[in-house]
Parts: sequence; C-alpha cells; structure tokens
Amino acid sequence: MSLLIRNARLLTLAGPNRPRRGKELGELGLIPQGEVMVADGKIAAVGPKVEAPADAEIIEAQGRVLMPGFVDCHTHACWAGDRLNEWEQRLRGVPYLEILKAGGGIHATVQAVREATKKQLAAHLKTRLEAMLREGTTTVEIKSGYGLETEAELKMLRAIVRAGHEWPGTIVPTALLGHAFEGDHNEYTRMVVKEMLPAVSKEFPNITVDAYCEEGAWSLEACVRFFEKAAKHHPHRVHADQFNSLGMIPEAIRLGARSVDHLEATTKADLTMLAKSRTMGVILPCTGFHVDGCYARAGSLVHQDGAVALATNCNPGTSPTHSMPLAIALAVRFCGLSPAEAIAAATVNGAAVLNLPDRGTIETGQRADLLLLHHKDERQLAYELGGNPVATVICAGQRVNQ
Ligand code: NIG
Repeated sequence: MSLLIRNARLLTLAGPNRPRRGKELGELGLIPQGEVMVADGKIAAVGPKVEAPADAEIIEAQGRVLMPGFVDCHTHACWAGDRLNEWEQRLRGVPYLEILKAGGGIHATVQAVREATKKQLAAHLKTRLEAMLREGTTTVEIKSGYGLETEAELKMLRAIVRAGHEWPGTIVPTALLGHAFEGDHNEYTRMVVKEMLPAVSKEFPNITVDAYCEEGAWSLEACVRFFEKAAKHHPHRVHADQFNSLGMIPEAIRLGARSVDHLEATTKADLTMLAKSRTMGVILPCTGFHVDGCYARAGSLVHQDGAVALATNCNPGTSPTHSMPLAIALAVRFCGLSPAEAIAAATVNGAAVLNLPDRGTIETGQRADLLLLHHKDERQLAYELGGNPVATVICAGQRVNQ
C-alpha cells in the first residue's frame, strides 16, 4: 500500500551523500508546498507535485512541516536503577567527577545493570524507545558501558539488540568498552584489550566501539592503546573533552575516529583542527543543561567549515531526557547553531555519524522515516520548550502514531 503526503512544507535536506559541513548545514532543501509518495517503506517520489496510485492512503498536511525522522546518534539509553540521590548531591554542589571518584555515578548504574537480567534491561529500554518515537526519533544509537565486565557488557548489547526487534525504528548498538574502570587502570585496560574486545568482536563483528577519555575515567594513553587495537576491525568514536581537555581530539583525528562527542571543554586550536578533519563533532547540550552549564561551541565549528551532529546523550547521570526537540532547543540557545543548522545536525548528520546514508533526507530511494510536525514553520522546533512538536511519525513507510 502506498502513502501520499500532500500540501506539506517539505524539508528534504537533499544534497551530497556525505555529512553536511559549514554553510551546508543551514540548507534544508525546502520545497514550500510539496508532496511525498511512499511505497514499500521507501520514498518513491518527492516534489511540488508527484504521481500517486489511485488507492494510495492520503495524509493532508495542511501546510505543516514534513521532515526526516530524528537520528539520535549518541545515547546510553540502556540502564537499570536511578541516580536521583546523586542528582540531589549535585544540586547541593558536589561535582560529577567527584561522585565518580568516590565510586558513585557511572559505578552506581553499573551495579544496577549487573543485578538486572537481559529481559529487564530490554523492558526498561523499550519504555524509553516508545517515548523517543513519540517525539520523532526513528533511529537511535545505544551504547553499552554499564557492565564493565565482559559478560555484563555482552548482556547489555544483547538487551539492546532484543529491544530493537520490538521497535519499529532502527537501533544501532555501540560497544562502549572504555566507560570507566575497576581496580588498576592499566590492568583493566589490558583486560579490555585482551578479553572483552575479542569477545565483543566475536559476537558483534564490525560493531562501533567507544571510550570515555576523562579524568577519573579512561586516560588518553589507555584510549589510544584501546583504539589502536580495536581500529583494525571496528569503527570508533570517543567521548572527549566533557570536563577537561586531555589531548584526545588530535589523537582521535590521527586514529580516524568517526566522531568525537561532547566537546564542552575543547580548546580553540583543537576545534580548528577538528573542523578541518573528516572526524565529526557530536554535541550533547542536554548534558550541559543538566550538569554544569557548559556547552560545546558548535557555531565555531560550523564557521570553520566543520561537520556537526546533535544528540540527546540520554542517560541516567548527565542527561535524563529522550527528547531530540529539547536537544535542538538547547543547541540553538547555548551552542551557537541556527534552527536550520540544528535540524541538519539532528537528521542527516546524525545518520552520517552512524554510517546510515539511506536516511536523514527526503529523497527518492531513501528509507521513509518521516515526521509531520504540528507547525507550519520549522523554527518552532527550536523555539518551543517542553512540548511535543511531532504530530505524526512514519517509520519505514508505516504510520506508527496518529
Ligand atoms: O556521556 N560521560 C560519560 N558518559 C555519559 C554519562 C554516563 C553516566 O553518568 O551514567 C555522558 O555524559
């Protein structure tokens, strides 16, 4: 059965089949009054007027915005337990890294994840995925990283895959094998490289790997050691410069990382180096909003012709939100992106980070992951705070809400 959406303000984001850089981020490929025909889960035609079969289901957009589904390219959405006590401590002024050093923070979630079964983890995750879908996320990356033991990391990855089977959108698992450590850091890194990485590689060949380069988490040396080993078989990404700039950006670029994520504490020189590289910068403004009021200077990256993607970083410690519209609203207020740039960063560039060139734009042949907003002006996405701007979500050609 085919579907025709007509009389829509279309943000096609059509363009080159690669990440948008610099000025390109502001170009949304607007068709002010257009139509999209969907068949077999894909976009069959798009333009001011398209041909559609007589029996096509019709959605009358009444001039509202139709755009690609959000691609949330950085989350830790698989967890158990909560971090409410830690949050109260932080409200009283105790810093995040101090709580981590004292064995709380990530370690508290590790404890809860180890105690949960795979089925329980998948069930918690499913609830969050349903909330994501309602707010327009049709593709989401989800990291492990709360296991810190080989079996527990594998359990997380299996739970993520399992939850994905019951969700109409697309899940991309990432093996975050360098999130924190237990015992001696050197010994722990050796265990990850010699035992955890091969076990993960065996069950999840080609999975993207990740690490958290930060004081009290993984050192620069440990990250480099891990990525040098992993890069032979796995694409890699890295959490860099969240609180401290430890020199990870130049190393990540040298090692060919797909993205460097966070960037709140990145130096001017490293931002310039990043803008000139093929590694993408991923910004996570919900974290600055929840933790410490520090934000990545994404506008500077864009002015220097860099490529930026935007994600929620959904996790229990630093970003308890699943909302891409909120991430857009904050990126515009605090990271120096325009509404159009934030939209491109949340769609086509998120897809590029995940190496999914079949989505993030509305072009013939693309997967039909589409959002019909309540609004006739896409700037409302960035302007509005705390509402849900998404009226209808279409996933692989199927309407998954009304
Ligand atoms: O990206 N900073 C490292 N990882 C997450 C936080 C995880 C947590 O605190 O549970 C982040 O912010």
